[in-house]
Amino acid sequence: MRLLVTGGCGFIGSNFVRWILKEHPEDQVINLDKLTYAGNPSNLKDLEDDPRYLFIHGDICDPVDVDEAFSRDPDAVVNFAAETHVDRSIMDPSVFIQTDILGTFQLLEAVRRHQTPRFVQISTDEVYGSIERGSFDEESPLRPNSPYAASKAGGDLMVRAYFKTFGTPVLIVRSSNNYGPYQYPEKVIPLFVTNLLEGRKVPLYGDGMNVRDWLFVEDNCAAIDLILRRGVDGEIYNVGGNREITNLELTKTLLSLLDKDETYIEFVDDRLGHDRRYSLNCEKVRNLGWEARWDFLDGLRYTLEWYRENEDWWRPIKSGEFKEYYLRKYGNI
Ligand code: NAD
Ligand code: TYD
Repeated sequence: MRLLVTGGCGFIGSNFVRWILKEHPEDQVINLDKLTYAGNPSNLKDLEDDPRYLFIHGDICDPVDVDEAFSRDPDAVVNFAAETHVDRSIMDPSVFIQTDILGTFQLLEAVRRHQTPRFVQISTDEVYGSIERGSFDEESPLRPNSPYAASKAGGDLMVRAYFKTFGTPVLIVRSSNNYGPYQYPEKVIPLFVTNLLEGRKVPLYGDGMNVRDWLFVEDNCAAIDLILRRGVDGEIYNVGGNREITNLELTKTLLSLLDKDETYIEFVDDRLGHDRRYSLNCEKVRNLGWEARWDFLDGLRYTLEWYRENEDWWRPIKSGEFKEYYLRKYGNI
């Protein structure tokens, strides 16, 4: 397969590109990425000289950039490109609407023009909103609560409309919170791990009782790969880690793995509109033959070691654009 991956220099995208070239030695990958603050070409440094890999610097909102990538005639497109951080979407939603909705629209138009055989939209459990008890399945209504989630839901609805209206061969994957190597340190696990490695406190929102379902990034890559090859056009697939835990519990686990006590927790004001709990019913993807392989504690230990051993990856990030964002958001914590 020749795959066009968008957003391949981000966290999940870079793990996915590496996964594909490892699992499918005959495949080729074209990576279209705008290199926003979250896109880091060094995430794929090891593939620079691989003849199966081609990087194109471009924006999914720009039809010229998109056409350049599609002119390579991909067999399928997997769209990871997005603005992804809820807190930034609260500070300024506009770029989320641009990339997550209008960018998705530009890709769908290109799929139609070039008659690309398959388009996989990478989405999130956050489009369903929050759930106190039970789990969302793929038929659950969309009730997004943050500007990020609403933008992703807008993208998903456009994908659905292209299937219903034009018969465009699309699939949607909605996964729960991912963690693992190469995650930008604005997200809770890498933020807390790197803060603790720097000897700083960790800012826990509200009462810390919000629940997230954690999925190791490699398990998500395996699921996306399977859905890309075996999924049914027009269908949606939920992918969760089956590992729900409160943020407080998660924080205590990280503290104990890093030999720190609870004085390192700084309770801070809650996030606006903070979803209480996410939970997914994943029977459909399990029926395709997928299951999460990584135990949560093993995955956390692995991730922690990766951040410990790759300070030269995250230290420059934390001292650049991120430093300004951090100060604005968290002050001196
Ligand atoms: P990320 O923020 O780490 O990376 C996003 C990538 O997209 C970056 O490389 C960035 O440069 C690129 N990008 C942004 N705007 C672009 C544009 N206009 N044109 C081209 N490239 C652009 O994101 P991530 O955490 O790897 O998430 C990837 C996808 O998975 C997103 O669609 C996100 O909504 C979804 N998702 C993420 C999670 C999670 O826990 N991280 C969970 C569920 C779903
Ligand atoms: P995050 O990693 O931003 O992912 P998402 O909002 O997409 O789930 O946050 C995960 C959880 O951690 C969420 O409930 C908010 C919480 N959180 C904190 O308590 N403190 C923080 O500094 C951050 C970034 C998140």
